[in-house]
Amino acid sequence: MCGIFAYAGPDNCTKVIIDGLKSLEYRGYDSWGIALKTRTSIELKKNIGKVSEIGELKSIKAKAGIGHTRWATHGNVSVENSHPHTDSDKRIYVVHNGIIENVDELKDYVHGDLFYSKTDTEIIPKLIARFLQESTFPEAVKKVVSLLKGNFAFVALDRDSNYLIAARNGSPIVAALNDGNFYISSDLQSLVHYSDKAFFINDGEMVIFNLANTSIEFYDFFNRKSIQKEAQLYDIQFADCERGNYKHFMLKEIFEQPRQLQKTYAVNVSDFDIRFHYALDPEMFKNLRRIVIIACGTSWHAGLVAEYWLESLVKIPVEVEYASEFRYRNPVISDDTLVIAISQSGETADTIAGIKEAKQSGAPVLSICNVPGSTITRISDATLFTQAGPEIGVASTKAFTTQLEVLFLLTLYLARFKQKIGTKDIINYLKNLAEIPEKMERVLAQTDQIVSIMETHYAVSNALFLGRGVNYPIALEGALKLKEISYIHAEGYPAAEMKHGPIALIDRNMPTVFICIRDQSYEKVLSNIQEVKARNGIVIAVANDNDRRITKLADHVIFIPETIVELSPFLTVVPLQMLAYYIADKRECDIDKPRNLAKSVTVE
Ligand code: M6R
Repeated sequence: MCGIFAYAGPDNCTKVIIDGLKSLEYRGYDSWGIALKTRTSIELKKNIGKVSEIGELKSIKAKAGIGHTRWATHGNVSVENSHPHTDSDKRIYVVHNGIIENVDELKDYVHGDLFYSKTDTEIIPKLIARFLQESTFPEAVKKVVSLLKGNFAFVALDRDSNYLIAARNGSPIVAALNDGNFYISSDLQSLVHYSDKAFFINDGEMVIFNLANTSIEFYDFFNRKSIQKEAQLYDIQFADCERGNYKHFMLKEIFEQPRQLQKTYAVNVSDFDIRFHYALDPEMFKNLRRIVIIACGTSWHAGLVAEYWLESLVKIPVEVEYASEFRYRNPVISDDTLVIAISQSGETADTIAGIKEAKQSGAPVLSICNVPGSTITRISDATLFTQAGPEIGVASTKAFTTQLEVLFLLTLYLARFKQKIGTKDIINYLKNLAEIPEKMERVLAQTDQIVSIMETHYAVSNALFLGRGVNYPIALEGALKLKEISYIHAEGYPAAEMKHGPIALIDRNMPTVFICIRDQSYEKVLSNIQEVKARNGIVIAVANDNDRRITKLADHVIFIPETIVELSPFLTVVPLQMLAYYIADKRECDIDKPRNLAKSVTVE
């Protein structure tokens, strides 16, 4: 949440920073701000609204600057609360991501200072200014970071010295230095235009850039010592971060799914054998008796699908927990429990806290993540990477299906490790998995059918999503997709639960989306459809090709190709993503940046 971008160097600072903020806007977009260091002063510009909507900002001659795009935590959305914040003398300017928890206590150090915002951030420049009375700027920042409690990444700019300084404790930050140009950003994607190498800043580390001689230093403020750091190559392509001809990133990402699934498969499987790209140490599973999956949002839904797979193929108990609840529940975890953490961004604060909790109890933690170098990959014992490429739309799509793929491969791997499944079965499952991308293409080709359903129902206020078994989590995911981007109230339920409450909602205005594939519950779901029709409800069904019985019952049907039941979620989720997308587009919603949301939720 919140995007930070800073630059020092000979290029047009205003443009570089505003471009950087635009590429970070998916992290937060209720207000923005930029502070530019000229020869004698610091110029500040900030406003509410989206940085992508400001057009060309007049450039001023500056040698360094810091920028911010905000997702409000402390203080409402206002110019006063937008970053950068400064001290009373307007010497130090700070942009910040995270939450400072001990602001009230810290105010004792700056007794008498007036605060102009309601943010927790404003304390940082004020404290730095306070310590500048007896120290240099870098020394003052070091003192301040030792006092801060909470999660933060911030960048501080000084009007009167030649340093640009960033510090991290819990919120992500990366830096790059290329030919005298220095960049700091909340994520790698925004650096892709400038450098193919980056410095990954860890918790407890500061990066100090000297504008005068373009040198860079790293400091470990946990252990109070200077450290050395090498820039590392990273593998994100320019085109991966561009929208291309698609109207929204979300649409591009929906259509990218077959390719990203093929990529994820190819790096982990060869000759029908699972050889994870990042080899797993079997030691991790030697005591394995139980699995706990922790995640949030869409990643949690991927965990629920995996629960079905793991229990039926590996035959060990699995629990799927919201990371936020797991953390505060005193969970019973021991070294025979494998904790699997799932996160697209690798920066979700609740999931990070859950991993820390699990590690304290001695459980091995295996994470499934899309972002190399992210916090979750660093604190886990091992990571399996999804190959979704950068996911920029706030609503998760390709990250979800690639998470499913990695989880299915992990299921097969563990089933083999536990000797619950033979090579022949594994090959059969892998053959079916390898066919998914082509079958998914056939679902994606049904835009016209999905758009025509959208045209009839885009104005509804409520919707119900029902599925059973491995497709119950897909009903939850369909409801989440619709609500988060179109603001239509939507609920997901196991289909059999309908008669225990949700059936009361059925009327001629509310569509019920049924996932009704030919599995063991097929007849029962058909009965549920009849129950809805008997109450004049609207039925949209996702069903297998050539299902004539569904055609007779439902108002609309979206057909998907046959696959084995276990793998059906890969195909059933796609029409729900598309339906949500086209409905939100018709309603003129800001699809890639839905109101109140942010891509990676780095606050608890
Ligand atoms: O980056 P993560 O996978 O940890 O994010 C988890 C959720 O915040 C995320 O899935 C969120 O629910 C998305 N907006 C769903 O589309």
